[in-house]
Amino acid sequence: MASTPSTLLHIFLLLLQSHPSQQQQSSSLCPTDKVALLDIRSNLQDLPGSNFFSTWEFTRDPCATFAGVVCSSDDQHGKQFLRVSVLTLGTGLADSPGLTGSLSPSLANITALTDLVVYSGRISGPIPPDIGVRLRRLRRVSISNNPISGPIPVSLAGLPDLGQNKLRGPIPPLLLLPSSPSLKVLILVANGGLTGEIPREISAAQLLHLDLRGNSITGALPPLPSTLRYLSASANALSGLLDAAFAAPLPDLAFLDLSMNAFTSRVPPAIFALPRLSSLLIQHSNLSGPLAVPPRREASPSWAVVDLSHNMLSGEFPAALAAAGSLYLNNNQLTGAVAEEVSRCLYRGSMTTLYAQHNYLTSFPAPPLTPPDSIALCLSYNCMSLPSAAAIARSLPGSIHFIFIGMCAGCATTLLRNHIFTIIP
Ligand SMILES: *[C@@H]1O[C@H](CO)[C@@H](O)[C@H](O)[C@H]1NC(C)=O
Ligand SMILES: *[C@@H]1O[C@H](CO)[C@@H](O)[C@H](O)[C@H]1NC(C)=O
Repeated sequence: MASTPSTLLHIFLLLLQSHPSQQQQSSSLCPTDKVALLDIRSNLQDLPGSNFFSTWEFTRDPCATFAGVVCSSDDQHGKQFLRVSVLTLGTGLADSPGLTGSLSPSLANITALTDLVVYSGRISGPIPPDIGVRLRRLRRVSISNNPISGPIPVSLAGLPDLGQNKLRGPIPPLLLLPSSPSLKVLILVANGGLTGEIPREISAAQLLHLDLRGNSITGALPPLPSTLRYLSASANALSGLLDAAFAAPLPDLAFLDLSMNAFTSRVPPAIFALPRLSSLLIQHSNLSGPLAVPPRREASPSWAVVDLSHNMLSGEFPAALAAAGSLYLNNNQLTGAVAEEVSRCLYRGSMTTLYAQHNYLTSFPAPPLTPPDSIALCLSYNCMSLPSAAAIARSLPGSIHFIFIGMCAGCATTLLRNHIFTIIP
């Protein structure tokens, strides 16, 4: 039977229809990535109680079935391939103990990777040293609560301006990460073992979020990337001066936590002038000197929290800190009266917490206002005279939850030394 135009059209339509399914078959996971996933799998195991790897069955399509693997299509030499773009190791669920083992160096072969997330577990050993150099598309690295550690003997190819002497001694893995040009988020939290200094190269990175909490990082805080919005480096062993880190503009920095380090520094006045800063936390960090807080500009948003407690800050109580919602200046060496603006903001309710205990403050100018019920005010262990303390107590309604007004151990007045008034309704 001769083909009629309609059967030809039918065949033509069938061919058209078959095209998408053929393409689907040809775009399978790139073999390099598949080998890398095999290596990663063979270096890691579920801890008892975790079943993260139950879906990692290599006879099946990793992109379609593996937990934690997300693929994207990618052109390689004109051939369509799927590449692993997101790799999440572990479930991140609070009741899952996570994974154990080590991170395979093959990780550096997944060159289309944009996101690497490793959840809490017992993964130890180094971060594969060259991932920052080889994974040029990395945008986010987050490795939390695993006993990952340095030092790493690495090939340092691709790193700019690295002095020869830097090659000796422990080299922290983070030295290598900022060299990935697209890296935006770097989270290496509470791994405990990261050592060495934060590399100066980091100031040229385009990081938005840097979290290095709970490691053993030493040295001074280098100049920060101008793009930064979030920085935590608390609970490390950072030292030295802070001014250089804040010398250049940081227009977007909203969260800053440098608590629990051992600086030998004042609080750089530039920190108080950061236009977007909302949380300023540098407690227990050996800060000293007077607090120079420039007057707030009209447009500046107020700080949600300023915590500079447990340092050696001296001098007067800065009036401009009245713009804080919660202010912790306790356990310092501040002298003179609490700034009047501060007490007014507290009694008006725009400030809800003022901790100023354990200083050498001589008075608290209680404004002629009735404060809201919800404020927390703590003024114990200062150098207030009894009449001054009594005046504060009279100004407060019975509903204030706790207030301690007392004398400091180092005061000249010995009569009421260490005496604390505690008014609890
Ligand atoms: C990366 O892939 C190349 C070739 O695809 C291979 O020779 C090499 O061993 C791999 N590297 C690692 C660390 O697996
Ligand atoms: C704290 O800072 C002072 C100088 O302000 C310095 O002499 C001292 O060594 C520092 N302490 C620590 C533990 O770093």
